Amino acid sequence: MKIAVIGTGYVGLVSGVCFSELGFKVVCIDNDASKIAELRKGNVLIYEPGLDKLMQKNVQAGRLKFTTDVNGCIENADIVFIAVGTPSKSDGSADLSYVYTAVNDISSCINSNAVLVIKSTVPVGTTSCIKKFLQDRGVDVDVAFNPEFLKEGAAVEDFMHPDRVIIGVESKKARKILAQVYRPLYAFNVPIVFTSPESAELSKYASNAFLAMKVAFINEIADLCEFCGANVNDVALAMGLDKRIGDKFLQAGPGYGGSCFPKDTSALQDFAHKNGVDLSLVKETIKSNNNRRIKMVEKILLACSNSVKGKNISILGVTFKANTDDMRDSPSIGIINALLERGANIRIYDPSFSEQAKQIFPHLKFSSNVYDNCNGADAVIILTDWSEFRALNLRELDRRVKNPLLIDLRNIYTLSEMSASGFNYYSVGRTFEKLRYTEKIATK
Ligand code: UDX
Repeated sequence: MKIAVIGTGYVGLVSGVCFSELGFKVVCIDNDASKIAELRKGNVLIYEPGLDKLMQKNVQAGRLKFTTDVNGCIENADIVFIAVGTPSKSDGSADLSYVYTAVNDISSCINSNAVLVIKSTVPVGTTSCIKKFLQDRGVDVDVAFNPEFLKEGAAVEDFMHPDRVIIGVESKKARKILAQVYRPLYAFNVPIVFTSPESAELSKYASNAFLAMKVAFINEIADLCEFCGANVNDVALAMGLDKRIGDKFLQAGPGYGGSCFPKDTSALQDFAHKNGVDLSLVKETIKSNNNRRIKMVEKILLACSNSVKGKNISILGVTFKANTDDMRDSPSIGIINALLERGANIRIYDPSFSEQAKQIFPHLKFSSNVYDNCNGADAVIILTDWSEFRALNLRELDRRVKNPLLIDLRNIYTLSEMSASGFNYYSVGRTFEKLRYTEKIATK
């Protein structure tokens, strides 16, 4: 089975490397010659732990190669995956121009027995439109939809051990070929859901929108906790033990970001609206999450006696989550800009040393380590839950800062360890007063 993958961005590169790891011959194609040149040198262009070794191993085994030459590779491929970006347009809808450019590029060379598989996240009905687009050009091939559920920072694991594989197909032939591609995952008992392209397309959006709603929900519960003295971590634990709810995506924080949740929630809402359906819960999720940045700034101002003017603020972590260098829609962008508008002096430390961050904040200082970043700080703010921040030497931190104020927007620390630290500690959905009381009961 020969596989071609168009697009060597986040989804395409991980998928291409993992398909070759499963034993298939894979060619990854991109129209960006500089990207292909880097990949041919063995340089992975995205921050994804473990991907580089897996890529080099499969290139050496002769199962994986990179090229800009669409024509030369597509005609021999049994399956062609399209994994190009579908960014948001200004109205919130999905921009499909890269998808249709890729479809057009392959239309003149795809062989009639091959299956074209859309892996990019596309609005419901796109797979069928692409089939018609090709038929109108005299190309009659099967077109399927196969969404990815790869979390940044865990993408290889998510590809190799998915909770499920969803495949939207119409023909028995396409179903058979795609069943073959994912057969190696049978070894891990991965369920494969075969359905219509429309159901597969909507399953992807619905899954991401539901996860985003879960995050927005626990963030709002965290706000309530701060008024009634409950501890959002305890509430999330108690909720998550109910298998109907599940314990994932219940970690309160500064709001969700990334290249998918914001894009997919607005694309879904836009698609529904255009079809006369009011997805009020998705709309409210988007609104709630957008407001979250403002709420976090209010929390920071409260902790800083209602002013950050002229204060040295040490920011720990700016990427949209840990184990990535991705800044797309990161909550840190809105929060930092709001603090700068109010006259704060900001220093940043992020373990990924994200180049994107330096491009977004070209005038800010970036430190090479967490402690230097805290020298003379009036406040230290944890915005991203990097493991490196989970065991800070608080004594050393206390020695470096001007004012022992720690604002932990990812609830990395427990209240009890912070109450003994000498730091004035703020977090999300937890307050000291009531909790000292309940913790006293707990320790009796
Ligand atoms: C997401 C989906 O999880 C994945 O299935 C899809 O294919 C792509 O989009 P990703 O965007 O990489 O993956 O990150 P994810 O781990 O889902 O986190 C998304 C955002 O939610 C991050 O900003 C993260 O910090 C936030 N989040 C996540 C929380 O605030 N609390 C949580 O409990 C989980």
